[in-house]
Amino acid sequence: MRLGVNVDHVATLRQQRRGAWPDPVEAARVCERAGASSIVCHLREDRRHIQDRDVARLRRAVRTHLNLEMSIAPDVVRAALRLRPDSVTLVPERRQELTTEGGLDARRLARRLRPLIVRFRRHRIVTSLFIDPAAAQVKAAADLGVEVVELHTGRYAGARAVRAHRRELAALRRAARQARASGLRVAAGHGLDYQNVGPVAAIGEIEELNIGFSIMARALWVGLDQAVREMRSAMRRGRRHARA
Ligand code: PXP
Repeated sequence: MRLGVNVDHVATLRQQRRGAWPDPVEAARVCERAGASSIVCHLREDRRHIQDRDVARLRRAVRTHLNLEMSIAPDVVRAALRLRPDSVTLVPERRQELTTEGGLDARRLARRLRPLIVRFRRHRIVTSLFIDPAAAQVKAAADLGVEVVELHTGRYAGARAVRAHRRELAALRRAARQARASGLRVAAGHGLDYQNVGPVAAIGEIEELNIGFSIMARALWVGLDQAVREMRSAMRRGRRHARA
């Protein structure tokens, strides 16, 4: 199973002082050395953390796979086509939010998404849609002909009661199975940490997890290299547990 590490939080810290460091590109290098399979960053419309020049520098530095999270705002689409990541993950975006809340409504936005997906494909950029684990959303994504869906794990991660936790995990399992059966590749992410990652890693249809905040928070105590390695171990343990 692959781990994509989101380096936005390094840029958030840098933007506090508007200086040159800490540098998300340096963070990406450390993550790759520690075994990350891809580097993820989010070019937000308000450019609150990652800047266009960060993406350009990441494009040159990343040796694995560069996944750009983005909204479908025209300015950001133009930037993505210029910056040429390996893949884009289309997410909903609201300026007031602290982080991406909820998945993209692929059904409602189908008419806007279709031409965009074609444009990205022409530029050899793989498109992923960040959707809630709901049957209608998976179907809409499959109908749009994207290659990948990323299932939003935020509700799972936020579920406190045992029943809610089970219900959200079951929704992820069902959506992953449906997506795979529709020929989609399946990723998942949002709010995953060292404690809750196991059961999601155990879902066989999910091939990649994209994780940012918990790894960067852990890195404060053990360093980024170790934080990435620990997350990979937690994912492997979850996967092994499923097979046993
Ligand atoms: N995947 C997507 C599409 C996201 O928008 C985010 C948040 O930037 C993540 C994964 C990572 O979430 P977290 O930082 O909570 O691990």
